[in-house]
Amino acid sequence: MSDTEIGAGAELPRFPEGFLLGVATASYQIEGAVAEDGRTPSIWDTFSHTPGKVRHGDNGDVAADHYHRMPQDVALMKQLGLQAYRFSLAWPRIQPGGRGPVNVKGLDFYSRLVDELLEAGIQPVATLYHWDLPQELENAGGWTTRATSEAFGRYADVVAEALGDRIRSWTTLNEPWCSAYLGYCSGVHAPGRESQAASLAAVHHLNLGHGLAVQAVRAAHADASCSITHNLHVIRPADPHSPEDVDIVRRLDALGNRAFLGPELEGAYPSDLLADTAAITDWSFVRDGDLEQIHQPLDLLGINYYTTSTARKWDGVTDRNREDGHMVATQPPWPGPDDVDFVREPGPHTQMGWRVEPAGLTELLVRTAKDYPGLPLMVTENGAAYPDIVAPDGQVHDGDRVDYVRRHLGAVRDAIDAGADVRGYLLWSLLDNFEWAWGYERRFGIVHVDYETQQRTLKDSGRFYAEVIRAHARD
Ligand code: GCO
Repeated sequence: MSDTEIGAGAELPRFPEGFLLGVATASYQIEGAVAEDGRTPSIWDTFSHTPGKVRHGDNGDVAADHYHRMPQDVALMKQLGLQAYRFSLAWPRIQPGGRGPVNVKGLDFYSRLVDELLEAGIQPVATLYHWDLPQELENAGGWTTRATSEAFGRYADVVAEALGDRIRSWTTLNEPWCSAYLGYCSGVHAPGRESQAASLAAVHHLNLGHGLAVQAVRAAHADASCSITHNLHVIRPADPHSPEDVDIVRRLDALGNRAFLGPELEGAYPSDLLADTAAITDWSFVRDGDLEQIHQPLDLLGINYYTTSTARKWDGVTDRNREDGHMVATQPPWPGPDDVDFVREPGPHTQMGWRVEPAGLTELLVRTAKDYPGLPLMVTENGAAYPDIVAPDGQVHDGDRVDYVRRHLGAVRDAIDAGADVRGYLLWSLLDNFEWAWGYERRFGIVHVDYETQQRTLKDSGRFYAEVIRAHARD
């Protein structure tokens, strides 16, 4: 399809001046080179090499080989006209073992990446942590321990000192909900632990790490823009008149959203969260002063959005397929009673089984803007997996993804029109990549990656997005 064909037939979404249109990726999902230039194993190296944890036995050893192909990939970003690029820094590449002296070669990769981006006129947006915790820190307790929070603060200092002269936008953690609950409760993500109590300790120490990292970045560069990135949940009760369904949603909102936003943006854990989890933990790992450390003023809140969900109290008999990746979870990704049934919502669905519901993004942005007035927002991830194929013409005509992106861009426009201060949209993702427990089976890229040859092929969705950016730049 030509550029005009892809954008033809419908008005392109338009955005205010200064609104950033870009993409997002993550280190373990695209870099490869896991044992090169001093990088030591992360929990995802360990987890993906553990039989049965990742579909098809996939791992991030090579991924999209971005570590060796970075200049070409930045050239591709420039070709797309991207205004911002959100990437994550691999802690074990920069600080092998998670502590101690900096690995200069590891840091140098990111220094070269930032220089290439700035040369291409693309704003770097750095995620300090996107799940690749150095294995040595996990061996000492991982995010269930205060020591990891403190190590994260020191790591943030090292990185900000080294790169803060050129990186102005920082986000501390990507989706601590996943790190805590998928990593320590259901165990379908690294490190694969299945402990409700551990997952709540991880919630706190991730929050604490965030606060320490913000302070470290600001100490190095007082004018840095600091944020955190959450996959905030939009959960609706199956029956809004059912007190049981409504309370299920309240409980999941407390665990999934307010367990993070409460301490980070209000300086306190929600009282209902503490009450709901009292049988699991006494929260004694929260020490005097921790909440002040966590509650740092933020310049932005990053929101990753893919879909909504509908929950009801489980009737005890309905089959609840909880397959997530290769493993079928033995317990849900939240502490507390296993009495929730997520109702399959009407389609269309993406390949992940997630309902395509752009209105949920508008609802989430407007709700968050109302809850936290004065805090700018950014959509830091939004995208879709579809079973892409390379057509005989050598192209990938991913019309479903074009439609998904177009509709969600429109949803962001609607939120802005409703008064939400949204500063940008970062599409997930630039490249097809390692989709955690799903391995390479699920493709989210606007650029197709042939993992045999590492050839990149711009998909129709990439052409469409480039057209949106061009129109925005002309405005
Ligand atoms: C997430 C992560 C990404 C995923 C993407 C698709 O939000 O889970 O930030 O690493 O790959 O969201 O699931």
